[in-house]
Amino acid sequence: MNLVVGATGLVGSEICRRVAAQGKPVRALVRSTSDPAKIEKLKNLGIELASGDLRDRASLDTACRGTKAVLSTASSTVSRQAGDSIQSVDLEGQLSLIDAARSAGVEQFVYVSFRDKPGLEFPLQTAKRQVEQHLKQSGLAYAILQASPFMEIWLSPALGFDAANARARIYGTGHNKISWVSFRDVAHFAAASLDNPRARHAVIGVAGPEPLSPLEVVRIFEEVSGKKFTVEHVPEEALRAQKAAAADPMQDTFAGLMLFYSGGDEVDMRATLAAFPTQLTSVRDYARAVLQVK
Ligand SMILES: NC(=O)c1ccc[n+]([C@@H]2O[C@H](COP(=O)([O-])OP(=O)(O)OC[C@H]3O[C@@H](n4cnc5c(N)ncnc54)[C@H](OP(=O)(O)O)[C@@H]3O)[C@@H](O)[C@H]2O)c1
Repeated sequence: MNLVVGATGLVGSEICRRVAAQGKPVRALVRSTSDPAKIEKLKNLGIELASGDLRDRASLDTACRGTKAVLSTASSTVSRQAGDSIQSVDLEGQLSLIDAARSAGVEQFVYVSFRDKPGLEFPLQTAKRQVEQHLKQSGLAYAILQASPFMEIWLSPALGFDAANARARIYGTGHNKISWVSFRDVAHFAAASLDNPRARHAVIGVAGPEPLSPLEVVRIFEEVSGKKFTVEHVPEEALRAQKAAAADPMQDTFAGLMLFYSGGDEVDMRATLAAFPTQLTSVRDYARAVLQVK
């Protein structure tokens, strides 16, 4: 059995779909508050449901019983209930899941994390690094997937990149390159890590095929749509001021993530692709899909 925690989320639901498509058994951790439509989708894939919460250790012990691998993508940053926070979910909840997995005799633990930016600190990044450290010391065969910014999140209207209306918000100057990755490719690497000897005791960089600056991304969208984009910049100084004035760890984290983007994040994927061959989604592929251009 393979337990997915975060199964109702963007990456977690795609992992469930891919692992089930490999003919492997999947158990999804869901909450009483999870979106019923998302739970229904999991059921329709023939996935077993386990009711639980990262803040409830007993529920994790039950969910891990009889499980060979645990794959965790859960995070409180977007999908939050009362009591969910970076401290209670992203840190303590994930630590508790690792302990529950170890007690239940789980063999492999696949953890979706993100990349490090030296010199930049924010609560979610600190939590991810502490969880990675705990996992490395747990004795479990770990695969830590350090993912780059997702194109479907950072190049979406929710963050001011509104391709349908030819408007783009850029954090910082827009000159620093990022290896934008598709959440589907992150799910591919997670599913491909199962039973894979190259994904045991491994930290794996998961990024897109080509580093592109936000201004280069805008040019690609302009070419694909045939429209000139209106570009708005959020200056780095404004992001720094926002971070300094943050009233809580979540605000601090959002400002930190925007500063991460503004500083750029280039990744060389050759080593990862040699171990896990796949055709990575490019920003141009994504632009065509968003703009419905063939
Ligand atoms: N966005 C990016 O650019 C980016 C880049 C690199 C890495 N990442 C990482 O990728 C991972 C997956 O992101 P995503 O977009 O798939 O996240 P998402 O769509 O927001 O999904 C979060 C999941 O966590 C679950 N969850 C939250 N609190 C929980 C709790 N207390 N107990 C159990 N489950 C809980 C949610 O369940 P409910 O549906 O029940 O709320 C949901 O299934 C995250 O860890 C994120 O840090 C993201």
